[in-house]
Amino acid sequence: MSAPAAVSASVTFDSVTKVFDNVEAVRDLSLDVREGEFMVLVGPSGCGKTTALRMVAGLEDITSGEILIGDRVVNDVDPRGRDVAMVFQNYALYPHMTVFENIAFGLRARHAPKAEIKTRVERASKALGLAELLERKPRQLSGGQRQRVAMGRAIVRNPRVFLMDEPLSNLDARLRVQMRAEVARVQRELGVTTIYVTHDQVEAMTMGDRVAVMRGGVLQQTGEPQSVFDRPANLFVASFIGSPPMNLVQARLDARGDGLAAVVGDQDVDVPAEVAAARPALRRHAGRTIGLGIRPEHLRDAGDGSRPRIRGTVRATEALGSELLVHLEVAAEPVFTDEVRDAAADVDAAAVERLESEAMERRTLLIARLETQARPPADEPLEVGIDTRRLHFFDLDTGLAIYG
Ligand SMILES: Nc1ncnc2c1ncn2[C@@H]1O[C@H](COP(=O)(O)OP(=O)(O)OP(=O)(O)O)[C@@H](O)[C@H]1O
Ligand SMILES: [Mg+2]
Repeated sequence: MSAPAAVSASVTFDSVTKVFDNVEAVRDLSLDVREGEFMVLVGPSGCGKTTALRMVAGLEDITSGEILIGDRVVNDVDPRGRDVAMVFQNYALYPHMTVFENIAFGLRARHAPKAEIKTRVERASKALGLAELLERKPRQLSGGQRQRVAMGRAIVRNPRVFLMDEPLSNLDARLRVQMRAEVARVQRELGVTTIYVTHDQVEAMTMGDRVAVMRGGVLQQTGEPQSVFDRPANLFVASFIGSPPMNLVQARLDARGDGLAAVVGDQDVDVPAEVAAARPALRRHAGRTIGLGIRPEHLRDAGDGSRPRIRGTVRATEALGSELLVHLEVAAEPVFTDEVRDAAADVDAAAVERLESEAMERRTLLIARLETQARPPADEPLEVGIDTRRLHFFDLDTGLAIYG
């Protein structure tokens, strides 16, 4: 008897809210996860990712709104009736059981026929590269192999939906890189709808078909990773997605004929007419202060004569072999809103402190990612070129990007 092929299902959040005592963990979440899709839920600690996942699993009641798996509203369906399998951050394997027994455990508990258990375990272990290790005990496995066993347990249940909550966070950095690709490959092979939770924006960028970025219980933006990177909806997404993060400096927009200039401190950065034309709403901000966003990779060596440029003082350089990060201090105020603070806090406390001191001293450290080997001397002035087609503009009142 062969294992039935897993049938995948869509997952729909329809205005879902979850309140614990007085904490609104998830607020009015609407999100469609398509059948077979790999959706990554990403955001800083405490933004509601795990809560969203646990509501799909049925481990947490829904305060208001509806969750559907396929066409069926599951709000009142028992976890066992939902056909979902969850892989937790802190998975525990049974140390005295072999890999085979660990993977088979759930099936045995439900008295599945022996032959079917064997087929399912073999199929899952093949997909996970564990076929040769079925007789080993957990202590004879590497961290990555143990993680795969934990996934195997979920896979053999043939769920219609996989829910994964930071499954790689206990692995060391190198293993994590390898497992990222592995999890994405297995998901594609099985074609089962997957919601994958992480606070690691690199996982979000590399693993999923789409990402959903959350902050403080509220969905900020959903889209393919590249489009979220290219067109972040607001200051939070702009500073959260990307490493090093997008540079954000305050600038006054001035109308200059058909074009515009972004005035950064006492420097004019010309916004070419075609860039201004592509964002007609920008003109309405003429005379006002906006947030100007420049990704580190869109600043470049000015040696090639590129214009416009921006001038600053070199405060630090980091040679990474293939590229050089230059920290360039510019005499202008940084954008430092709650959104930017939250995104920085996710990096570390030092990142927030750096931003605080920049804001207080009205200076901004721009990070430029240059393709050069020559380190510019510290504390000396330097000009870098700006790829103005890749500039981002933000309304500082709303925090929203200006695109229209
Ligand atoms: N059982 C609970 N009782 C009360 N508050 C809770 C409970 N579970 C979660 N919360 C709160 O709900 C909010 C969202 O928590 P959640 O665990 O979903 O965040 P998360 O995005 O998964 O964070 P992390 O990245 O740290 O795992 C937090 O403010 C948290 O303190
Ligand atoms: Mg969590």
